[in-house]
Amino acid sequence: MFESDLHTLTLSQDGSFTAYSKEYDEHYHSTQDGALRESLHKHVLPAFSLKEDQKELHILDICFGLGFNTLATLYHHTQNALNSKLYIYSPELDDSLVASLKNFTYPEEFTRFKHIIEMLSEHNVYDDEHLHIELFVGDAREYITKFHNTFDIVYHDPFSLKTNPILWTLEYFAAIKKAIKHDAVITTYSTALRTRLALYENNFNVYLYKSDGCRNSTLASLGELKGFEKVDMQHKISCNPDAKALRDHDLSS
Ligand SMILES: C[S@@+](CC[C@H](N)C(=O)[O-])C[C@H]1O[C@@H](n2cnc3c(N)ncnc32)[C@H](O)[C@@H]1O
Repeated sequence: MFESDLHTLTLSQDGSFTAYSKEYDEHYHSTQDGALRESLHKHVLPAFSLKEDQKELHILDICFGLGFNTLATLYHHTQNALNSKLYIYSPELDDSLVASLKNFTYPEEFTRFKHIIEMLSEHNVYDDEHLHIELFVGDAREYITKFHNTFDIVYHDPFSLKTNPILWTLEYFAAIKKAIKHDAVITTYSTALRTRLALYENNFNVYLYKSDGCRNSTLASLGELKGFEKVDMQHKISCNPDAKALRDHDLSS
């Protein structure tokens, strides 16, 4: 049984199921964009368009949830016969959710990864010659401080700034900056100015990502990304002089 007191199943627009969290009063994906479509088009495709040729890829998947971003990565990798060895690290606070994932109704595209889902759901780790995945059942803020100069890709996919603000602050992105390599890319569904300010004030370049059939999303990188539309943050700030990045201390006051 996947459904519980905390989670229910919801059919999203692309025909894939997502879940609704009663605790956060939010869906795990945009029901309008579709769960699989959102994972592929806002996270995996833009990241891999930049990182496809690397021999090894270290990916931070924040947070695991139903695991769509990790599984869509495996799907894209397999479909395109990519050779890179993948190391995926993913924190997730909700242990009951992780334990129930073996019963979730995943899209057909993920059928071949059933054994991986079962291993992750039961043991929180999967390892073979080409792939290493580790789930950390605990707090993402604590987890990311363990890494330095490690990641090539960060999928930043928590619940919204309104319901889960601790994963959107200036200090959170400062910790991410320490955990990534200089040429890493961060993907996120959020196009909010407060998100972009938290990235910009950590010296990230901020880009608008447009994809057919999905709403716009954001890419961020410490280096320049060629071929993407850079957001003119100085202009945004001059048009919205009162906008501020969220800070950890705003959450305790
Ligand atoms: C929007 S969902 C993630 C969706 C996921 N990427 C997917 O593809 O299914 C957000 C997840 O963050 C988890 N979460 C919330 N706060 C967290 C924290 N501080 N540390 C780790 N996980 C957290 C929630 O339990 C939830 O599963």
